[in-house]
Amino acid sequence: MSDNPIVGSEAEDELLSSHNYDGIQEYDNPTPGWWNWLFIATIAFAPFYILWFHSPTEPHNLEAQYDAAYAANMKLKFGDIQMQPTEAELVKYMHDEEWVGVGAATFATHCKQCHGAKGEGIVGSGPNLTDERYINVKKIEDIAKVIQEGAKNGAMPAWGNRLHPNEVVLAAAYVASLRGENLDGKPAEGDEIPPWPEPTEDVESKSGEKSDEQPTAEGEEDSDDNAEQPADK
Ligand code: HEC
Repeated sequence: MSDNPIVGSEAEDELLSSHNYDGIQEYDNPTPGWWNWLFIATIAFAPFYILWFHSPTEPHNLEAQYDAAYAANMKLKFGDIQMQPTEAELVKYMHDEEWVGVGAATFATHCKQCHGAKGEGIVGSGPNLTDERYINVKKIEDIAKVIQEGAKNGAMPAWGNRLHPNEVVLAAAYVASLRGENLDGKPAEGDEIPPWPEPTEDVESKSGEKSDEQPTAEGEEDSDDNAEQPADK
């Protein structure tokens, strides 16, 4: 049936695996050792990689890397700006998506282990920051004060020496922005307080700059008319 000298010989019996399915037999060709070791190595590697990638303290996935790089980039502007933890500035920054993103990154690095990834609080640790009740806060500036100085004998650590002053302001603005999300987490504690003030004219003056462009829009209408005129001719 075959020219192969092994076929039908005693040597073939040794090469064949022992099982026999309806007369069909197969050679015993084990996968090579290096392949097995590679396979085992990938299994051994996987749990460490998953831990590193999804690490609860410092995740290394793309989204986290982007947020961190974004915040670092925004922080380059810190040299030019001195933020103050005043009502007006906190209200302004909590409505400023770019700056509030820096506060969110600070929160993800330093605060979420006690207050939860989204500020929902952790039972037995930091309070829920997304509800309408506060323990140490009566007005928006108090948030920055608590972050700066800590509370409850250090159960809430003081961050004044550990964060850039602007970072304290932006973390406070971010925390302020969480209010009202009412996420499921630690049950609300403390007293209900009046709503945060509305953004002041400082912010409106920004949109005011935009509304300055409205005359140009009218100007465009004019030029549209002009454009129609030549078309009529
Ligand atoms: C080690 C745990 C821990 C860390 C880390 C932590 N906090 Fe807290 N935080 C607490 C605890 C506990 C309280 C409640 C203090 C109290 O009961 O008076 C608190 C309270 C607060 C409050 C006041 C809430 C209220 O209802 O009065 C704010 C705001 C706050 N934390 C923000 C932050 C920010 C921002 C960070 C990160 C820069 C941070 N926390 C990091 C544990 C922590």
